[in-house]
Amino acid sequence: MKITGRTKVVGIFGDPVEHSISPYVHNASFEAMGLDYVYVPFRVKREMLSHCVVAIRALHIRGMNVTIPHKETIMAFLDELDEEAEEIGAINTIVNTEGRLKGYNTDSLGYLNSLTEEMGFEPSGKNIIVIGAGGAGRAVVYGLVKRRPRNITIANRTCERAVALAEEVGGKYRSTRLVATGLDIKEHVRDCHLLVNTTSVGMQGAKGGLVVSIDGLPRDAIVSDIVYRPLDTPLIKEAERLGLRVHRGLGMLVHQAALSFELWTGKKPSIDAMRFTAVQSMEAP
Ligand code: ATR
Repeated sequence: MKITGRTKVVGIFGDPVEHSISPYVHNASFEAMGLDYVYVPFRVKREMLSHCVVAIRALHIRGMNVTIPHKETIMAFLDELDEEAEEIGAINTIVNTEGRLKGYNTDSLGYLNSLTEEMGFEPSGKNIIVIGAGGAGRAVVYGLVKRRPRNITIANRTCERAVALAEEVGGKYRSTRLVATGLDIKEHVRDCHLLVNTTSVGMQGAKGGLVVSIDGLPRDAIVSDIVYRPLDTPLIKEAERLGLRVHRGLGMLVHQAALSFELWTGKKPSIDAMRFTAVQSMEAP
């Protein structure tokens, strides 16, 4: 990669940030497309976050991805929020236009694009179970509800959080019935078309195996997991064992990256090339 006097800088704020595969994915695409950009990881402590946002303006950094633990707190320091990001209550992308910082959430549409393009799944009229009611769950639910599914059942360990999210979303989007439950989903699986895990359960290094029992799902149901490390999570393996269709988390990672890339550069990257680099970087020692 050649850095020039004109190279535009983008990157990621997070803590930890060492595990991120976004630098590989973006830099490979910049290089392949001949774009004079570089993507840099920045480890940002909570107490330094406001200073780091000022630095984006001061250093004319073109844009930033934002990850754990800053996706929500950083919103207060920006000049403007995309409507959907405001609704979700979290951002993962900042665009700097002449010193004005606007926040976006590309996780939501990234998940939707991955699901529709890879699985050919059209949420309209379908019955969907979303496991989890945290930040990632909110992004997925808000993405799905705009496509008018018949039902979204939000299942969460802390049931009150599921109830609060179901009431919030159901109050705004009347064409979908929102239901809340704990993690015992037996009653809801029978006519389910899509079940998606948005919790961290199944992630490498985390405790626990399956977040819910998926026995009883119809044979043509899709089981989707937004966890991408490992590529085959316990939930994905169990779904394959049951002969169900599976949708892995790497797709969302790649599609959210592609949307951020386009917001910064105005150019669409190749999804296949991004996916190839992502897999390669995960296999690297
Ligand atoms: P994120 O932004 O990644 O979604 P979060 O807002 O902290 O993170 O939300 C984490 C989600 O994973 C929540 O739905 C959480 O359930 P609770 O609301 O009950 O905390 C869920 N979660 C985390 N660990 C879990 C576990 N071991 N079993 C079941 N659900 C878990």
